Amino acid sequence: MNEKAVLRLGDQDYPLVITVGSEGEKAIDISSLRADTGYITLDPGFANTGACESGITFIQGDQGILRYRGIPIEQLVQHSRFIETAYLLIWGELPTPKQMDHFSSLLTQNEMLHENMKHHFEGFPWTSHPMAMLSAMINALSCYHPVLSAPSNPSQVEQAAATLMSKVRTLVAFSYKMVRGEPFIYPSPKRRYVSNLLHMMFSQPEESYEPSPVVTRAVDRLLILHADHEQNCSTSTVRMVASSGANLFASVSAGICALWGPRHGGANQAVIEMLEEIHAGGMDARQCVELAKKKDSGFRLMGFGHRVYKNYDPRARIIKSDCDKVLEELGCCDPLLEIARELEEIALRDEYFIERKLYPNVDFYSGIILRAVGVPKNMFPVFFAIGRLPGWIAHWRETTESRSNRIDRPRQVYTGPNERQYVPLEQRC
Ligand code: ACO
Repeated sequence: MNEKAVLRLGDQDYPLVITVGSEGEKAIDISSLRADTGYITLDPGFANTGACESGITFIQGDQGILRYRGIPIEQLVQHSRFIETAYLLIWGELPTPKQMDHFSSLLTQNEMLHENMKHHFEGFPWTSHPMAMLSAMINALSCYHPVLSAPSNPSQVEQAAATLMSKVRTLVAFSYKMVRGEPFIYPSPKRRYVSNLLHMMFSQPEESYEPSPVVTRAVDRLLILHADHEQNCSTSTVRMVASSGANLFASVSAGICALWGPRHGGANQAVIEMLEEIHAGGMDARQCVELAKKKDSGFRLMGFGHRVYKNYDPRARIIKSDCDKVLEELGCCDPLLEIARELEEIALRDEYFIERKLYPNVDFYSGIILRAVGVPKNMFPVFFAIGRLPGWIAHWRETTESRSNRIDRPRQVYTGPNERQYVPLEQRC
């Protein structure tokens, strides 16, 4: 490729190297810009900044394309299972049957928590947000598994990945039980990944919860759809923390905090709250869309818009169709689904949303499925976190194994006061 980039500052030209990704995505490499010119770039929100080269996930936002390690998301939700997709993301290839068996048995071996970890839950108030507990408990794993926190060879990485992916279910289910004051239900080695999670949440000592295959499959597909999304806010957080040399559990714990916000993983909870408000008669769908268009309202149509997708989020399309299957299987009809469909229809015909290319994102319909399964709304972001775990592990691994492996440390353009003198307290009025 002969394309060249030249930066002209005053009468001096600075040639800049162009880097091209495997799907033709182009970037101007400015890594020596400051050293060469004394200038830095300014890009609030990083919308134009490539922070790294990555071989994990490809997104083409204008065409609504999402692929993990080259495989389209539509094929993965059709043919794969969450655990197999996790393996693909973390190690770059689909597992052979032998590798799959080995990884599955590692998950089974690691599903229990150290008994002392149960006592951590006693220290949380009953009003604790599940994301706060999850972040704290994942960080606490580094105290119980210090060797695995900073794995130094492939088999330790595998062990660490299995430990995190398996124990996260137990932590989530125990936090659910703690808030309800119900006895913890231990994992069952006979169950598959999602069935085991739902069993630990919804079984009682005297009555075992048996989710239907339609329900477990829908939740499994939901987890696949959340498994990675390249350099989003939480993944970038994991990478940034990892770049300091922090251990896997600490890095993932920070990612969970980043995911918690309503503009990111907390949006699925915010969507349901918005739909509930409409259902309760607080406003109708049209008023809600009008309110979202008013800048000074501070309100946004939750579950709409995306930094990367300027087209229908491919994940939202799949989840929308799964909503019907789950509701039919459970024999319930959810008025919130009708409201969501109406909102979507109004917004997609509205000039404001068309102009800004705002479409439903992954969070718009996911809460309907989780609600139908019985997951409380403040745990929706937690299910997002379970799904995103393989992506975080893959990015942690890519960051720590990268050849450049420099600490992430952005610069700034300082706009504060110029140098001034300290004024003693008694002279200040
Ligand atoms: N409702 C109304 N207006 C919106 C919305 C929305 N949901 N999203 C964006 N806009 C408008 C903005 O006001 C802005 O308008 P302007 O150009 O007139 O100023 C324009 O669209 C561009 O918006 P930005 O905030 O610049 O877009 P950005 O890429 O920074 O934000 C984000 C993306 C955070 C997802 C945003 O669309 C949003 O807040 N959506 C609602 C929350 C949500 O659903 N988050 C989940 C995202 S997916 C995920 O994290 C898994």
